[in-house]
Amino acid sequence: MSEASRKAGEEKVPAKDEATEGARPSAGHDLWGGRFSAKPSQVMERINASIDADRRFALEDIAGSRAHCRMLVTQGIIPESDGARILEGLETVEAEIREGRMRFDPALEDIHMHVEARLHELIGPAAGRLHTARSRNDQVATDFRLWCRRALLKIEGDIADLQRALLTRAEEHAETLMPGFTHLQVAQPVTFGHHLMAYFEMLARDRGRIADARRRLNESPLGAAALAGTAFPIDREATARALGFARPMANSLDAVSARDFALESVAALDILALHLSRLAEELVIWSSPAFGFVRIDDTFSTGSSIMPQKRNPDAAELIRAKPGTTLGSYARLHTMLKGLPLAYAKDLQEDKPPVFEAVDAVRLGLAAMTGMIAGLTANEERMAEMAGSGFSTATDLADWLVRQLAMPFREAHHVVGRLVRHAEESGRRLDELTLDEIRAQVPEADESVFAVLSARASAESRTSFGGTAPAQVRERLAAAAERLAGLDRALKEEIAADPIGLETPP
Ligand code: ARG
Repeated sequence: MSEASRKAGEEKVPAKDEATEGARPSAGHDLWGGRFSAKPSQVMERINASIDADRRFALEDIAGSRAHCRMLVTQGIIPESDGARILEGLETVEAEIREGRMRFDPALEDIHMHVEARLHELIGPAAGRLHTARSRNDQVATDFRLWCRRALLKIEGDIADLQRALLTRAEEHAETLMPGFTHLQVAQPVTFGHHLMAYFEMLARDRGRIADARRRLNESPLGAAALAGTAFPIDREATARALGFARPMANSLDAVSARDFALESVAALDILALHLSRLAEELVIWSSPAFGFVRIDDTFSTGSSIMPQKRNPDAAELIRAKPGTTLGSYARLHTMLKGLPLAYAKDLQEDKPPVFEAVDAVRLGLAAMTGMIAGLTANEERMAEMAGSGFSTATDLADWLVRQLAMPFREAHHVVGRLVRHAEESGRRLDELTLDEIRAQVPEADESVFAVLSARASAESRTSFGGTAPAQVRERLAAAAERLAGLDRALKEEIAADPIGLETPP
């Protein structure tokens, strides 16, 4: 950051005359200042600058400029010699950016002007030809789509990591009993592996939603120019292809003003954050001493500065809070876009920070959740004990009455209800009642009734497709692992095809 820009950043809003005077030379002004007699005030520069945000598009901006330059040469719009100089210069600018040597200055407004200004310093007047048949309006829309595509690809990979961690834990616990809950009241025994795989499925849908958003946004705005297209004989198919877009966008006005791709991406991320928050909440509950189901590894726990015994699930709680960020991002974008007339308006410059924040929040949340799941240990004894509590096999007993005695289910429900009340009054579980006590309600009952009263028998009996029986869970696990491997292969190919790639994270 230059001395001047550092000052501008530190300064309070100046007094009015100072604000309107604008005596400081403006670098950005050099690029569009032809029709003005006065330079912009410092306040104008500050409200206008977006470089703090859009510098994250630097690689995308270079990639877009490269594709545009090559096309201009091929189409005979600029001389080949200038094109070669531009490409060479862009190479240097890219190296400077990758190595963190690029100097950012709010006076240069945004990343597009930074790249162009630096190019000008490096190669002189030929740099001025790059902006032929292009506007910052189609440029920013192009950069933003390229960036979102990379960010979503990265997140799809991050989700896969969490899915793999869940698969591993679920395989380990395909037989481990735990209580299944409804209303957070013990309902029926399930296996821990089955419960974990519910999140695998949610994440699979998240991945699908994100991939859908990514494919839908994969059209090129480049060549829409300011809003109306251009009179130069450009080749939009060529630039679209060079940047890995499926096709050029069909309407130039739409191309520069559409941001539903950003909104859709954030919506998909918000739903993902929501799923993570549900799992996070379960970890908070399960790891509490009152439940004692799981232990979150030391590496993802924190202590209390006053209570030496504490072992807090801070990471889980922070993940639980992330939908505040993602839904906040959605609300910001949505509010900003509502009622905007076509085509480009500067409101659209404020579209980036909410997307960046949502992406960063989700990526950090995914990484922390993956770490927690990878290091999670289960207290199997405690979980099994609780699996048999709360009369969790009452439904199994009712089912047994239906199967063995052909009793209508409604009647069986009542009979078992009376047995539960009896057991509860005497402080026992259903399987602790005597046969005589059961016979008081069901005269036809014999010893075989006890076989259905254990939590394990209950879980093992639920063999229906997608049910909790360990055998069924193992089948679903195998299918899930296969699905995941297929998706991962496809993702690898898409990452390899990206002109920027994921080597430098978005
Ligand atoms: N920094 C701008 C943005 O993010 C780039 C487009 C500027 N276009 C313009 N007409 N001033 O939206």
